[in-house]
Amino acid sequence: ERSLLGLKDLSRTEIETLLDRAAYWEQQPDKVIPVLKDRFVANMFFENSTRTRFSFEMAEKRLGAEVLNFAAAASSVEKGESIYDTVRTLESMGIHAGVIRLKPIGLLAQLAEKVNVPLVNAGDGNNEHPTQALLDLYTMRKEFGSLEGLRVSIIGDIKHSRVARSNLWALEKFGAKVKFCAPESMQAPELAEEAPYVTMDEALKADVVMMLRVQLERHATGILKSPEEYRFQYGLTEERAAKLAGHTIIMHPAPVNRDVEIDDALVESPKSRIFPQMRNGVPIRMAVMERALRL
Ligand code: CP
Repeated sequence: ERSLLGLKDLSRTEIETLLDRAAYWEQQPDKVIPVLKDRFVANMFFENSTRTRFSFEMAEKRLGAEVLNFAAAASSVEKGESIYDTVRTLESMGIHAGVIRLKPIGLLAQLAEKVNVPLVNAGDGNNEHPTQALLDLYTMRKEFGSLEGLRVSIIGDIKHSRVARSNLWALEKFGAKVKFCAPESMQAPELAEEAPYVTMDEALKADVVMMLRVQLERHATGILKSPEEYRFQYGLTEERAAKLAGHTIIMHPAPVNRDVEIDDALVESPKSRIFPQMRNGVPIRMAVMERALRL
């Protein structure tokens, strides 16, 4: 299988193969190793992105692929063209793979059935963000050596989070112990059987404290009372961070709302792995694009 639609349906072995391959790519001293020479890939973002879009492009270029960047705002989507017709259009022009970020849930699976090139999920609605979770697992494995038994607390806007879902579904394959912490309005009850909801004090007793961005753009009005109130109840403040065990690391997929879900001073603190996560995104996406495209 060359497409990567999510981690829920990927085996532990397949995930491990990608993590190991990313470790290989991370160690390569050469910036460009053109194993994807003459392979064309379109990065199709129907939702905004900085990290995912640029780290896919970086990964593709480091492997020598030809990269086409599609931005919905500057395309015929603005004239009403559908996502399906857009993908079919690029396919008909001869791309070999597509990286795609979109909002409608379920559309990616439908697209993957209809088009003949591999598709890589760069985030679909609040369903999955598989390359983010892969880079998160990679970051954790690098830190702790193994994911088995690792205590991971995911704190914040679980309901709207594709990052939480992909991490949960991947981490549970490795025997990690995932806990959630969220205000009631941001909980996803359908996931409660897989990970218990705990208090903030309980969530801080973990090897990894993963803070999530409050996704203001996905909220119906009124879910978030005020950023100050959220920070007070669910933010990783400096005071709370002082209670973390010495070995505990702080993660966040970013972009960060500084001083809302995490205090400004913690973002680049010694416990934070937020920027290393971004760095690890490049070798992870090299492994994913190699899988999608290499002959
Ligand atoms: N973490 C993440 O997906 O960031 P972007 O939305 O900037 O791609």
